[in-house]
Amino acid sequence: MENRLSIVILAAGQGTRMRSKAPKVLHTIGNKPLIAHVIETSMQLSPNDIHIVYGYGGDSVKAAIGDPQIHWCLQSQQLGTGHAVREVLPTIDPNDSVLVLYGDMPLIKKQTLEALLTSGESHMLSLLSVVLDNPTGYGRIIRDSNKKVQRIVEESDATVAEKGIKEVNTGFIVARARDLKRWLDRVSNLNVQGEYYLTDCTENAVREGHMVNAVICQNPIEVLGINDKQQLAECERIYQRRQANRLMREGVTLRDPARLDVRGELTAGRDVTIDVNVVFEGKVELGDDVTIGPNCVVRDVVIGTGSEIMPNCVIEHAVIGARCQIGPFTRIRPETRIADEVHLGNFVEVKKSVIDEATKINHLSYVGDSEIGKRVNVGAGTITCNYDGAYKHKTQIGDDVFIGSNTQLIAPVTVGEGATIGAGSTITRDAPEQHLTLSRSKQITIEGWKRPRKSK
Ligand code: UD1
Ligand code: CA
Repeated sequence: MENRLSIVILAAGQGTRMRSKAPKVLHTIGNKPLIAHVIETSMQLSPNDIHIVYGYGGDSVKAAIGDPQIHWCLQSQQLGTGHAVREVLPTIDPNDSVLVLYGDMPLIKKQTLEALLTSGESHMLSLLSVVLDNPTGYGRIIRDSNKKVQRIVEESDATVAEKGIKEVNTGFIVARARDLKRWLDRVSNLNVQGEYYLTDCTENAVREGHMVNAVICQNPIEVLGINDKQQLAECERIYQRRQANRLMREGVTLRDPARLDVRGELTAGRDVTIDVNVVFEGKVELGDDVTIGPNCVVRDVVIGTGSEIMPNCVIEHAVIGARCQIGPFTRIRPETRIADEVHLGNFVEVKKSVIDEATKINHLSYVGDSEIGKRVNVGAGTITCNYDGAYKHKTQIGDDVFIGSNTQLIAPVTVGEGATIGAGSTITRDAPEQHLTLSRSKQITIEGWKRPRKSK
């Protein structure tokens, strides 16, 4: 019979040192809750079940994760890691292999957990340890003269000599559910912290004559736990560096991998270049030969082949075609679709609009709730007045229209194909195809006028 795997993620702690009203595991790296990272890595091991032991702020954790496949186990009082695992065991088949993870260690890699699971196939109890230059605060791994693991001693219970040991417990273990239950039934809370320690299972297994195997994690970064905002920031940087490395392996040119933030999913084609201080959020797809200039924020966007995003653009929930030139200083707001070869220039804001091929809006314009055809030229300072104070209205502009600078288009309004609008017009009614339409008071010069002067 195939061995069933149940993963238990401990996440009941409040995380006092975060000094936050949110439960610790809902703080994010890469815009994703810490526990979501652990769940994601867990999934890669194809477990039969995932159990989360929650406590503080439990409902908000459940709501944030919202995965119906996950089993939730409330630990109403946090009496220690051993108590936490004991609470969840009644819902797990005694024959299951149980892998215990922590919700506040998001950087653990699948390969490391696989090594731990492999050890689990030949040992009653396996644990993941790591060697640290500064082991302060961690449980120390006590080995006998033959290097066999004997027990784990927590920092607060350790002697001075034991505190000198640099091999520490990460907290991750694997064992059969029925063995864990037997060992945990014998764990007491007679220690300095008055807690039921999961780590005491080691001693109990050794007493029964079993060999406990410590798999040493080669990269301490993977088992960094997050207890405060400083560690959160450190893990964020490591996570971001991993994203940057992945992108570079895939062929993306990063002007500085330390100045890139991917807070979601970024996919990129060939010969993509990303300049410094670019933030990607949500789901972003960049086609081949796309370049992104410095200081851009790009959220939930698809950008077509060869398009260039110049510095300081903010683009969200939009689709941009091929060979477009956007920016510098362009803001593209949600529900915008831009076809190929469109130019949007500096201080241009576009909202919920469709802009067809080869149209140019190069300077200082607001385009909202609009449909603009092909090869349209929108002059500087053009504004679609889409809001009457109560409702939003549409502006429609046909192909090959030329809109003179400083035009206000009072929506709802349509400008027919090939029409020209004279600069400085306020267009309140539809403008017919192919004609010049303008609304402008006549220019006059007043003869003999004198500028006022101050009397003495
Ligand atoms: C634990 C280990 C220690 C190890 C360290 C690694 C024990 C007794 N000690 O210590 O050997 O070096 O982790 O970081 O296991 N939790 C619950 N319910 C509880 C208590 C804790 O769900 O009642 C969860 C926490 O939310 C956290 C994890 O278990 O995710 C670890 O708890 P924490 O209090 O941080 O353990 P440490 O004292 O750091
Ligand atoms: Ca901890």
